[in-house]
Amino acid sequence: MRKLVAGNWKMFKGPAEARTLCSELADRVGADPAVGLAVCPPYVSLATALAALEGSAVDVFAQSVHWEASGAFTGEVSAEMLLEIGAAGCLVGHSERRQHFGETDETTGARAACALAVGLRVIACVGELEREREAGDTAAVLERQVHAIERAVPNSAQLVVAYEPVWAIGTGKTATADQAQEAHEVIKRILDVPVLYGGSVKPENAAELMAMPDVDGALVGGASLDVDSFVAIRDAAAAA
Ligand code: PGA
Repeated sequence: MRKLVAGNWKMFKGPAEARTLCSELADRVGADPAVGLAVCPPYVSLATALAALEGSAVDVFAQSVHWEASGAFTGEVSAEMLLEIGAAGCLVGHSERRQHFGETDETTGARAACALAVGLRVIACVGELEREREAGDTAAVLERQVHAIERAVPNSAQLVVAYEPVWAIGTGKTATADQAQEAHEVIKRILDVPVLYGGSVKPENAAELMAMPDVDGALVGGASLDVDSFVAIRDAAAAA
């Protein structure tokens, strides 16, 4: 199966910086389909990213989406709106959404279901906190989170799950390849979908992670903000 490497830009890069990064990325990877590639810019940079990446093999995803088609939901963006501008998909349930913005298993499932229903692709994020891992609860937490997604969404070829242990996000601490493999097995026992690993993925650790049989790609935060490191991770995925 072709691996997928997605760059989660978080709250970095407005339109001007997005144009520069995406143009460089289009020059570097062109239409090469060896690895699925996606970037997830902030909403205000989506249109610029789409224009700069037109004709390339890089898809553009939003970082979240609302579960209603329209309505009084200040600050939110609907799946239809993302579709209208040409976005290929969206993330849902990122741990930063869960931690800072009250996102729950239920809202994550609702957002995923709505996006899939209009034809967007979805990367649904799950992962345990450090104290949950230390308490030996990793599998139970993942099972709870993945069951919530499974209850909300139809069987879909458009769905991908990202395993992102919260203690590894932006910390420089990466799960070992064996820890990632073990978690991905737990997820795949419930949902038969590709599973990406996320959490301090860098060019230096990408090859080892990608070599695991159930690691189907990566969701990359910090290292996706730089073209050289993002392309190096993509190359590691292509070689795996
Ligand atoms: P990181 O972020 O690669 O900077 O750890 C990953 C993510 O939050 O998706």
